[in-house]
Amino acid sequence: MGTGFYISKVVGIVGMIVGAGALATIIGLSVVYSQEKAKNDNNNNQVSPTSGGSTAKPPVTTPVPSNELWDKYRLPQTLVPDQYNVTLRPHLTPNATGVYIFEGDTTVEFQCVEATDLILIHSNKLDYKTLENKQWARLTAVNGAIAPSITSSRLQTVTQYLVLHLDGKLVKGQRYRLFMEFIGELSDDLGGFYRSEYFENGLKKVVATTQMQPTDARKAFPCFDEPAMKAIFHITLIHDEGTVALSNSEEKESSPMIIDGKALRKTVFKPTEKMSTYLLAFIVSEFGFINNTIDGVLIRIFARKPAIEAGQGDYALSKTGPILKFFETYYNSSYPLPKSDQIALPDFNAGAMENWGLITYRETALLYDEEYSSNSNKQRIATIIAHELAHMWFGNLVTLRWWNDLWLNEGFASYVEYLGAHEAEPDWNVKDLIVLSDVHRVFAVDALASSHPLSSKEEDIQKPAQISELFDAISYSKGASVLRMLSDFLTEDIFAKGLQTYLKEFQFGNAVYTDLWRHLQTAASGLELPGTVDTIMNTWVLQMGFPVVTINTATGAVSQQHFLLDPDSEVTVPSEFNYEWIVPMRWMKSVGGEQPLTWLDAKSKTFEAMKTTGNNWVLANLDVVGYYRVNYDDANWDRLLNTLSTTHTAIRVINRAQLVDDAFNLARAKIITTVRALDTTKYLSSEREYMPWESAISNLDFFYLMFDRSEVYGPMQDYLRKQVVPLFQHYKTITGNWNTIPTGHMDQYNEVNAISLACKTGHIECQNLATEWFKDWMVTDVNKIHPNLRSTVYCNAIAAGGAAEWDFAWGKFRNATIATEAEKLRTALSCTKQTWLLNRYLEYTLDPEMIRKQDATSTIIYIAGNVVGQPLAWDFMRSRWSYIFNQYGGGSFSFSNLINGVTERFSTEFELQQLRQFKADNSDVGFGSGTLAVDQSIERTIANMKWISENKANVLNWFVAAGKP
Ligand SMILES: *[C@@H]1O[C@H](CO)[C@@H](O)[C@H](O)[C@H]1NC(C)=O
Ligand SMILES: *[C@@H]1O[C@H](CO)[C@@H](O)[C@H](O)[C@H]1NC(C)=O
Ligand SMILES: *[C@@H]1O[C@H](CO)[C@@H](O)[C@H](O)[C@H]1NC(C)=O
Ligand SMILES: *[C@@H]1O[C@H](CO)[C@@H](O)[C@H](O)[C@H]1NC(C)=O
Ligand SMILES: [Zn+2]
Repeated sequence: MGTGFYISKVVGIVGMIVGAGALATIIGLSVVYSQEKAKNDNNNNQVSPTSGGSTAKPPVTTPVPSNELWDKYRLPQTLVPDQYNVTLRPHLTPNATGVYIFEGDTTVEFQCVEATDLILIHSNKLDYKTLENKQWARLTAVNGAIAPSITSSRLQTVTQYLVLHLDGKLVKGQRYRLFMEFIGELSDDLGGFYRSEYFENGLKKVVATTQMQPTDARKAFPCFDEPAMKAIFHITLIHDEGTVALSNSEEKESSPMIIDGKALRKTVFKPTEKMSTYLLAFIVSEFGFINNTIDGVLIRIFARKPAIEAGQGDYALSKTGPILKFFETYYNSSYPLPKSDQIALPDFNAGAMENWGLITYRETALLYDEEYSSNSNKQRIATIIAHELAHMWFGNLVTLRWWNDLWLNEGFASYVEYLGAHEAEPDWNVKDLIVLSDVHRVFAVDALASSHPLSSKEEDIQKPAQISELFDAISYSKGASVLRMLSDFLTEDIFAKGLQTYLKEFQFGNAVYTDLWRHLQTAASGLELPGTVDTIMNTWVLQMGFPVVTINTATGAVSQQHFLLDPDSEVTVPSEFNYEWIVPMRWMKSVGGEQPLTWLDAKSKTFEAMKTTGNNWVLANLDVVGYYRVNYDDANWDRLLNTLSTTHTAIRVINRAQLVDDAFNLARAKIITTVRALDTTKYLSSEREYMPWESAISNLDFFYLMFDRSEVYGPMQDYLRKQVVPLFQHYKTITGNWNTIPTGHMDQYNEVNAISLACKTGHIECQNLATEWFKDWMVTDVNKIHPNLRSTVYCNAIAAGGAAEWDFAWGKFRNATIATEAEKLRTALSCTKQTWLLNRYLEYTLDPEMIRKQDATSTIIYIAGNVVGQPLAWDFMRSRWSYIFNQYGGGSFSFSNLINGVTERFSTEFELQQLRQFKADNSDVGFGSGTLAVDQSIERTIANMKWISENKANVLNWFVAAGKP
């Protein structure tokens, strides 16, 4: 599914959310992966929290009530589908009782591989028509053989099956056909076959669309809904005249038809390739499109007509073809389909979804308009297209056998998306950004004692809720990080070679992750490694966490230790590797430059080459290619910090960002002092590069969260203002007093950092600038603010302003014709300091006419990120808990994000009490997917209280001294 962890610039920069690290990731996910389920979802959905508060906490396996096959979540291996014919008719207007529905029928042809008198086929929330045999299905045998009769039909809602009992056995080796007619609700719950709505010229338009992954194909039609049950699909859609029907494959024919006097079209699609159910897509809309072809492959971009007419699909169209060609070369495998459609949907839960041949996106992930979109929006589009196209082979052509290997699928796409985006935009240096967006970000989560290994056992992942849980930062970002490390130590060529033979062996089939290791091992023959690919990678894949490598440059001793952010936390899960890793070290010396790759394959080792004296330093994990942190003896830290303050360019940009991030995190873990970490920020007054600044700002966000209500705040502001003003002046100069924007992609990002931090720390010139630009927009109704700067300017102007500014921005939000602009405004609206405006805004979040359901939780979290909004959001959430809980259902991530997000700043005894009270008060309603988050929040609050009591005095003194002019 779509790439995760996108946090809009404003959020990161105004320091509202990014900060406590772990949380940043969790919240990134909320925007992207929260699977909100609609109301009334509870009656037949096992994962739904109200179906039993105590069963709602995955991934604990509750005992299966009986041993019957229909009580097991995995299909019995008795029947294997070959092909399906599926006809679906979505109704884009409600029926007489106001319900949107779809009707359908399907024939599935399957082979019996083991005799059985029971047919189990996945089905969720579908109602069946009783056929002439008084059953919900008709069974026939292929080739004139006799089929047994169906004696009873029923639904097993917990395990989501249609259960058919037979009066005799199906014969091994024989093929059968099963026919069913059914009705489902086309609801707005963002899963299965669902509806999305938008307005065009004042008219409401309805789109019927799908999101199958992981287990919702069974909500669109009865099917063997497991990734290894690949089949060929013949899809037919019946839809209103004037609408466009799309599916995975090309249209074969489309003809008019009349049903009940209504003019309809029947669009038949060519058979698909052999594929998994979770990659299917069916869409009926009134969208427009643009197209081109590349080497015979048709590329189309679909979106709302006005968006297409405004050219918002042009950027995506221009990049899709080249990225597709890049992956053909990278995989040495031609794209197996004749077309690649990309479609932007107004309501979409994930970032994007790699349906084979018909990729679905959030509008913000596909549509670009120079007039409205920032360079960050543009980067997101390039990377997310690359991510989804990467899946066309890795995931779609070759599919992991079961969901427990999801990390390989998503980690892989999350790594190579940077390679694809680099191809599309070679001037951006976008590959470097994986360090900030994935490595550093997931370090924060993976450094907790409650983390989990990348790989799960197949038997531990059974229920839909357990599958959904896997779509987390560990799978995406840690997966990407360790694959990047692997590709680096094997070399990119060998990595690609192994990949190519792997794809070839398993095309149109399924594999497990060790199959890839085997192919990489073969490709790597001749390379000297301290073990096989399997033994090296097992230490990264089968145990959670990562090491901190400590280098003593006086003795050359190098050792490793499991890095835990909270040194008092206890790891209760044993590891067969005793929390030791086989660590590839790229490193350099100030004299002598880069050194040969060195392996730390023991708890500790001594490397004579790592000894230094005098002013000479050692720096390890060059470009943060390795998935670990680095600590040094005090003398080497002094030398590195000294180098930063004298000649910082002697250290590579990525490693400057690393030194800051490692230092702050080592300090959190009490391995070095907090003062040492703060010292790494001293040189920033002469730093102009984006990555080190970004690294510092995201680490300092934790200080804002902890201290923005205390006496540390003033001196901290003074110090940071002093550090950032030179950067602000630098950009003022190179942009000719803000008349142009910098040319470099990273420079453009850092200009935003300069303005955001200067304004945030109260630099008057900055605040005036933001206020004046916004005023000018209000007065002239012409928005002259550059798209890159809009997020921060809007936020600062709304924070400084009152109701007039807020209402103006709200009007613009409602009128926005492009989602990226709406997104910037929606975020900025949370920046006001007026209590009543924030309270009113909170009310809007529960009204889908005001704020789309997909955006509700993230809006509440943004408001909580505002120091004024924090207590309001907390009161709002706890007073409405049962309402929110029932309205916004029991999906996988949103509640945990909401709870973590709203309580992120908690650090006092009083807040701790309130949190415990909240837990007690709502124990009857439950917390669903937020159950763990409540306990995590309590734990985090305690940890924050402790951190403050241990650090406040020192930090205050440090800021007072360092902030002196
Ligand atoms: C509308 O659809 C719902 C759900 O299938 C059904 O319960 C209801 O009876 C339908 N109303 C009419 C008038 O057909
Ligand atoms: C599906 O439809 C095609 C074309 O009408 C037909 O040839 C094929 O036999 C059908 N398959 C099944 C499983 O009904
Ligand atoms: C794009 O679509 C139009 C309309 O269907 C068609 O006429 C044209 O040939 C297509 N262009 C390409 C390059 O495929
Ligand atoms: C929104 O659009 C309507 C209709 O075009 C217009 O009358 C109104 O002034 C716009 N509001 C804002 C805040 O731009
Ligand atoms: Zn993905």
